Amino acid sequence: MAHTHDGIDWTERLVALRRADEVEAEFNGPVAERLVDSLTPGGSPPVVVDIGSGAGGMSAAFASALAARGGGRVVLADAVEELLAAAVELARSVAGDTVRVDGVGVDAADDGLPDALPAADLVWASRVVHHLPDQQKAIARLGRMLAPGGLLALCEGGLATRCLPWDLGIGEPGLQDRLIAAREAWFVRMRAEIPGSVRLPIGWTGALAAAGLTDTHSFSYLVDLPAPAPEPVRQSVVDWLAWMSGVGEDDLSESDRQVVQRLLDTDDEAYVGARDDVFVLGASTVHLGRKPA
Ligand SMILES: C[S@@+](CC[C@H](N)C(=O)[O-])C[C@H]1O[C@@H](n2cnc3c(N)ncnc32)[C@H](O)[C@@H]1O
Repeated sequence: MAHTHDGIDWTERLVALRRADEVEAEFNGPVAERLVDSLTPGGSPPVVVDIGSGAGGMSAAFASALAARGGGRVVLADAVEELLAAAVELARSVAGDTVRVDGVGVDAADDGLPDALPAADLVWASRVVHHLPDQQKAIARLGRMLAPGGLLALCEGGLATRCLPWDLGIGEPGLQDRLIAAREAWFVRMRAEIPGSVRLPIGWTGALAAAGLTDTHSFSYLVDLPAPAPEPVRQSVVDWLAWMSGVGEDDLSESDRQVVQRLLDTDDEAYVGARDDVFVLGASTVHLGRKPA
């Protein structure tokens, strides 16, 4: 199986990624429909390739969208075997008879990537390009996977997800902002420590244009799950806090670390998963470019 470049244990992330997919499904579904609807009509059923498919939430959304529009093919591609297997299973569960679903183990930083996958009408790459050493080269590689007239959609950036009230009643108010700042500091280190890391100083639509794609533009969508939130959303908040505090650990103060420990302790009265004032609010941006027909 292929390998990743970022030092992250993605297998360990499966439960949290799956939970996020579940609670965000109502927002991701319309994005998949919008992208499928914007494909150039062709003679054969559309092929969608999901690079870095994670727990498969968007692959499943693409499979549903294609099934509702007469069928097609979804190919999931990821470097981590356990994630890929779970994601393929999820996508197949909604694909029906008219949509073919395949999984392919890949390293998206490998120049042979386009040879390992079918020519695509839509390449979807969500939050994976920033885990690759040379993002510009990676975008050009993804562009080479497109059939003429095909669409490359990069989901990157947006607004940092927020989940907590400003004053939690324990510790200093404003923990969430300090968590976001700590995560940003980690992200800079994560990028710098990827072997062969290259900076991308021109923004995502600029990078799509530099890869030879046309009609470059972006849109953003909200994930808005307000308080009081049902149990799965609260669990997703627990996952968010565990991830943010884990990657940001070195940049949090000792007192913030202690507060986080209490918030994550199911036996503590401060357990965040038992609060009725937590929520999920974030925005994701999709950057698009089309291969000339
Ligand atoms: C942050 S997750 C994003 C998952 C999903 N696309 C989403 O937006 O929720 C990153 C995904 O990229 C995969 N990944 C990381 N490096 C990769 C590489 N070099 N080649 C292929 N997949 C990779 C991870 O295994 C994981 O599934």
